[in-house]
Order: sequence, then C-alpha cells, then structure tokens
Amino acid sequence: MNLQDLTKVIRVRWITVCVITLVSVLGAVVITLLTTPLYEASTRLYVSTSAGSSANELYQGNRLSQERVLSYTELLMGETIAQRTIDKLGLDMTAQDLLTNIKATAKPDTVLIDVKVQDESPVRARDIANALSDEFVVMARELETPESGARPDTRVIVEQRAAIPDGPVVPKPGRNIAIGVAIGLLLGIGVAVLRDVLDNTVKTRETLEEITGAGVIGSIPLDKERRKHAAISFETDNSGIAEAFRKLRTNLQFLAVDNPPRVIVITSSTPAEGKSTTSINVALALAEAEHNVVLIDGDMRRPSLHKYLDLVGSVGFSTVLSGAASLDESLQKTIFPGLTVLTAGTVPPNPSELLGSQAAKNMLAELREQFDYVIVDSSPLLAVTDAAILAANSDGVLVISRFGQTKRDQLAHAVGNLEDVGASVLGAVFTMLPTRGSTSYSYSYYGEDSDLRPSQKSSAKDAAKSSGS
Ligand SMILES: Nc1ncnc2c1ncn2[C@@H]1O[C@H](COP(=O)(O)OP(=O)(O)OP(=O)(O)O)[C@@H](O)[C@H]1O
Ligand SMILES: [Mg+2]
Repeated sequence: MNLQDLTKVIRVRWITVCVITLVSVLGAVVITLLTTPLYEASTRLYVSTSAGSSANELYQGNRLSQERVLSYTELLMGETIAQRTIDKLGLDMTAQDLLTNIKATAKPDTVLIDVKVQDESPVRARDIANALSDEFVVMARELETPESGARPDTRVIVEQRAAIPDGPVVPKPGRNIAIGVAIGLLLGIGVAVLRDVLDNTVKTRETLEEITGAGVIGSIPLDKERRKHAAISFETDNSGIAEAFRKLRTNLQFLAVDNPPRVIVITSSTPAEGKSTTSINVALALAEAEHNVVLIDGDMRRPSLHKYLDLVGSVGFSTVLSGAASLDESLQKTIFPGLTVLTAGTVPPNPSELLGSQAAKNMLAELREQFDYVIVDSSPLLAVTDAAILAANSDGVLVISRFGQTKRDQLAHAVGNLEDVGASVLGAVFTMLPTRGSTSYSYSYYGEDSDLRPSQKSSAKDAAKSSGS
C-alpha cells in the first residue's frame, strides 16, 4: 500500500478515523478530569566550601563542592531526610510515600541543587520543600563536622526558598489532548487500513472483471430517488444515473456486433443488489433508443416488477407457463413508449420446474420474435437455481454486483453456477456506486471511462460514433 492508497483509504473510511480520534480525545479529557492535581514547589540549595586565599585553594574548594553536590542530591532523595521532614511537619505519610514526590537535581559543573516537591496541596508542597531544605542544611552540617568538633569545610545554604505554586503541574490538559489526538489518529488510520485489508467485498473494476471473467459494461451510481421511483424518466432525465444507463445500453448494443444478444437475463449472487431496478432501466434505456422491448419478471419467488412499475401482478409469466392465460393477454403495456412488461404472475409452488420447462423456452422464443430485446429480471443465484435455469435459455447474462456489498467468494460462487449450466456472461455491472465522499476512490479505481475494457473501448466508441448513439 503506497501513500496514494493510504490517502484513498482515509478518504473512504474518514468516519472510522474521526470516530476513533474523537473517542481517544474524549478518553484524554476524562483522564485529565480524573487525575488528581499535583502542585510543585521548589527550592535551591547552594553548597559552599570554606576556601583558602590562594588560587589553588580556591580551585580545590570549588572541586570539593562539586563532588559533594552529587552525594547531596542522593541524600536529599533518601529516607533519612524524608523521615526528618515528616517528623518536623507532623505529616501523615510514610517516608517512602514522601520520597516518590521529591526530586533533587544537581546542575552540572555548578554547586547548585534544585529540589522539587510535588503534593496535592500547594501550601503543603511549599512547606515540605522548605522543611526538607532546612533539615538538609542541618543534616549536612552533622555529616561534615569532623569528630574533633572543628568547623566543617562544607556547608549548605538555602539559596532560594519555596513559594506557594500558582497552578498544578499535573495534569497537563494541552499535552494530554495532543497525545489523545495523536493516538486517536494513529489508531483510526490503523483500523481503517485493517478494515480495508480485511474487506472482501467487490469494490474495484479489476476484481469484478477478474471474478466474472467479463468486462464491466456498466457502473450505476447510487441514486436515492430510485428507492421511490425505480423507473427513470429517460425522456426528461439527464442525471448521472440516466447517463450511466445510456452508456450501459450503448455498451450492450455493441457487445457482439455480429450476433448481438437479444434475450438477456439480469442476475446477481445475493438479494437486494439492484437486479430489478437495473432490469427496468436497461429496458427503458433500450426503449428510449426506439427499440421494442419486453421486460419479464423472472423472479417468481419474490416478484417486484409489478410493484415498481405499478402493474397488475396476478397475471404473468407463471400463469402463461401453467396455461392459465395466453401470452398475448398477459403482456402489459406501460406508460413508457416501447416498453411491454410480463410480470411474474401468481407465485407458483415449483418455480424452478416451470422456468426449466419446454413451455418457458417456447415462450422466450416467441417473445424473441415479437420484440427487439427481451430483458429478464431474475432471482439471486446463490438462493435458488431459477436464475441459472433462465440464463441457460438466454443469449447471455448481465451479472450485477453491488459496490462494497457483494462478497468476492459469493460472486465467484454465483459465476460458477452460471458456468455449470453453460450460460454466457455478457458483462458485469456495478450498482449503487457511492457518489459522494468516496466517489473519487471508487471511480479512480475503475478509471474515468469505466464502462469498457480497453480491448472493447475503441470498437465500441467507433461504433457509437458511426451510429450516432
Ligand atoms: N442505483 C440505485 N440507487 C439507489 N438505490 C437503488 C439502486 N438500485 C437499487 N436500489 C434500491 O436497492 C433496493 C434493492 O433493489 P432491487 O429490488 O432492484 O434489488 P434486487 O436485486 O432486485 O433485489 P431482490 O433480490 O430482492 O429481487 C431497492 O430499495 C432499490 O430501490
Ligand atoms: Mg428483484
């Protein structure tokens, strides 16, 4: 995955990244609010050595002080001085507890020691820092006094006493939130990449072509309007989805120029991938180009064309096949010029048997005679064998794949079902391609002109030019 892929993943999964970052920042805020504030008071100690008058003695004295300083810092963080401070202030804590809040540091090459004391109370922090320093002055004198009782060479002076600190040093809200943002972003991007890697849905033109073994001949965008009105009014509509169907029509017309497919089954691997909506609009797009088209609802188990097109559903495919009605009286004219529909009819107990019957083959042959195109909507391939049976009796199949929904193994299985019955896959069609946010991701993956394989592009474009389509 290069930087470009990473940018695409972040753009597509920006919600994941934002949510995780937000949760992380909220976590940082909660931690900040729950952290007990600690105040820090500090003193500075000066270590002096009684110097002689000569330059050499001065130098020696100074070195002695510097050597002392390191030992003193250790002593300042030792249990003895901590206990003395506790005793002096009458604190209710152990020496070990107090030690965790004391830090003494020596400035390199100087005779200065910084003592920092943290405490929940600013006043107590100051008192401890001062008491500790005072006690240390006494302690250093005791340690440095020779047994003879002579004046010690080295002494410690509290050069700077502690004041009450203004604000707490812990927690640090700004730093915590910055860490929260950084961790959230890293985690969010990590999760986004992981989800992308684990995503086994079909999202690229290459994958779709590879699995179906056919070219992608249509890329239908997601259009919320289709949920209310499945049929597009091609006469007046020039929206993106209408153009996508016109493009699909053009590609379909030039798929096999010598022997163009006319009985076309539209199917997919799983339910709700847009088979019926695509069937309706492929049929309407062909009708718009002044072809005489019949659209058949071959989904006898969950028929939907009569609902989408507001037609009578009780008389149709199944009733013709069972002999209960004639084909002519079952065909319904629609409000769309050039489009005739044969709905599914009443739901029969044995759809697969009916669809595989000789009567079904005869009926398709008859419709082929009457119409320029026979478009057959069907049921999902992985659910029942109906679509494969219809496909075997057609000129070819359009395999629908819903962007980011159809799983690769499902699609492969479905295509296998078609191969088993010897059906020919004319092309693959992506449906419900996202149009906002991740559009660039999807389209750039398929390429701008995503409707044809390179080998098909030139011939189709040339043909389109000559026909004026
Ligand atoms: N291009 C599209 N843009 C937006 N919504 C769509 C599009 N195509 C289909 N839909 C919606 O998706 C849902 C399923 O569509 P449709 O009924 O066409 O799928 P199907 O594959 O025929 O389903 P089933 O397997 O149940 O027959 C419907 O609500 C439909 O309105
Ligand atoms: Mg359907």
